[in-house]
Amino acid sequence: MFQKIKDNILYAGMNDKDRVIFDELIPLDNGTSYNSYIVIGSEKTAVIDTMYPKFTKEYLKSFDENGITKVDYIIANHGEQDHSGSIPALLEKFPSAVVVTNAVCAKNIQEMLLVPAEKIKIISNNEELSLGDKTLKFMISPGVHWPDTMFTYIKEDNVICTCDFLGAHYIFDDVFAVPSKDLEKSAKKYFAEIMMPFSTVCRKYVQQIRDLKVDMVLPSHGPVHKNPDYILDLYADWAGEKGKNLVLLPYVSMYHSTEEMIDYLAKKLEEKGIPSVKYDMVEGNLGDLAMALVDGTTIVLGTSMVLAGPHPAAFNTVYLASVLRPKAKIASFIGSYGWGGDLFGKMADMLTPLKLDVIEPILVKGKAKAEDYVKIDNMAQTIYEKHKALGLL
Ligand code: FEO
Repeated sequence: MFQKIKDNILYAGMNDKDRVIFDELIPLDNGTSYNSYIVIGSEKTAVIDTMYPKFTKEYLKSFDENGITKVDYIIANHGEQDHSGSIPALLEKFPSAVVVTNAVCAKNIQEMLLVPAEKIKIISNNEELSLGDKTLKFMISPGVHWPDTMFTYIKEDNVICTCDFLGAHYIFDDVFAVPSKDLEKSAKKYFAEIMMPFSTVCRKYVQQIRDLKVDMVLPSHGPVHKNPDYILDLYADWAGEKGKNLVLLPYVSMYHSTEEMIDYLAKKLEEKGIPSVKYDMVEGNLGDLAMALVDGTTIVLGTSMVLAGPHPAAFNTVYLASVLRPKAKIASFIGSYGWGGDLFGKMADMLTPLKLDVIEPILVKGKAKAEDYVKIDNMAQTIYEKHKALGLL
């Protein structure tokens, strides 16, 4: 059944509890939901965001089951198919409906979903659309996380539909958020994987929504926030410019020589009051790494040499870090080799766009010896001094 959000605003989304990976990349701990909202005005009815194509049939059936017999507008806040995928089917069910969106999203849904141009009404920033006693105001908000994204503000009810922004991969029975560690973790992983590369614009939109003083935030994944400050405060922290006093230690180690050095560094850092997170790049959950990247100020990556270069898992992690654009300021590498090659050069090149302060890497043949442990002591001391200089200690 649709759930009531406010008078004549309904939740028409669905839980995907069996989904275990998103974008074929990120493991999901709590499935996800695809949220769709129905706004019934005195004259017109609008659907805000639709449904992931896998659930189209069930989604359309739910309109009949809940007595929604008329749709005048389909608002597309974003062209990605987990929200816009059911637009063509919804247009078939309600042939007189018009899709309302911004120019960038209009192009996307024409090309990706073959929605005919004549079925689309293009709106501009801050344009309003009357449904009678309710008014939709469109706030074009590119970059969270595609160039086509926008928010839809329902003026009389003072609630805002933010699509992916402020969302979480999370399922629920009651649509209203109950703050919990689990929800916060899901929202943080989601932020890390989807929004972190756009932290600067996230900060801008957090402030914009705060200034509106909305009563509710209605995202298109995860629960509805009756207390907008809960999710806005979390986003303000995660999207902030300054990391925490935390070192990330992603590692891959074929014969434990690298792992022993990483463990030794973690111990030395702990003695200096610097917590660290060790992450197994082969067995670990990519979401955990992404989440740690939200907070870490320093990354020291440990890798074995494989065929004269870094282990492929290390490349994968460095690539992910380079595209997620975390707030880390400092980096280094620790590694062990058997017969030679270039362990760090290409990885350092990949991190160049992040403009990190790179501490001299430590490269060891086989097992670390006494002089190598002295180098790790020195690395821990350097990290300590740099964290202190950044005001983290
Ligand atoms: Fe949830 Fe960008 O789609």
